[in-house]
Amino acid sequence: MPKKKTTAATMPGESTRILLSRSRVQTRIATLAREINRDFRDEPVHLVGVLKGAIFFLADLARHMSGEVSLDFISVSSYGKETQSSGQVRLTKDLDTSIEGRNVLLVEDILDTGLTVSYLLRVLEQRRPKRLRVAVLLDKTERRKVPVSADYVGFRIPNEFVVGYGLDYAERYRNLADVCVLSLHGKAKKEGAV
Ligand code: PRP
Repeated sequence: MPKKKTTAATMPGESTRILLSRSRVQTRIATLAREINRDFRDEPVHLVGVLKGAIFFLADLARHMSGEVSLDFISVSSYGKETQSSGQVRLTKDLDTSIEGRNVLLVEDILDTGLTVSYLLRVLEQRRPKRLRVAVLLDKTERRKVPVSADYVGFRIPNEFVVGYGLDYAERYRNLADVCVLSLHGKAKKEGAV
């Protein structure tokens, strides 16, 4: 079967192929939104998106959810990504509002080593939300370094280098509607790229 092509504007030495088509992604997100609404019994849900990768997933998930939904964003920087050693994560942008007593859903594009979600769960739990759950679009379980899992998982994917739908390579490809596998020909991948 021929490989599906994307309309991605690739750089020389780079090529992409679709792993999860936009329609599969949207169908799955609609299902996740229904599960989330059911589990939260239509109580207000405060979505916390992790910049920048989660913005497309968060936007589509929010639009598929019924009931009261509010949004906030948080940003972290991972030393582990640059050095492949310490695995330390630090907050670079905090939430705008308190989450105490609220139903919070942490929204991530991908669960990889687990360092980011594990760190954020510790930080957010200290703020005493009513409930704290995690939704990820993609889960690369075989890359996990710390034991953490998501309550809602869009797709479990193999350990391939994925871009699109929020995920980048050198800040490019985030705007692809499909989740794609990026191949680099004769180039070394940037450390920590997922
Ligand atoms: C990516 C992704 C997650 C994190 C997952 O973010 O968006 O936040 O890595 O990796 P982990 O499970 O190994 O911690 P990245 O640091 O690339 O920033 P970005 O979202 O701005 O692309």
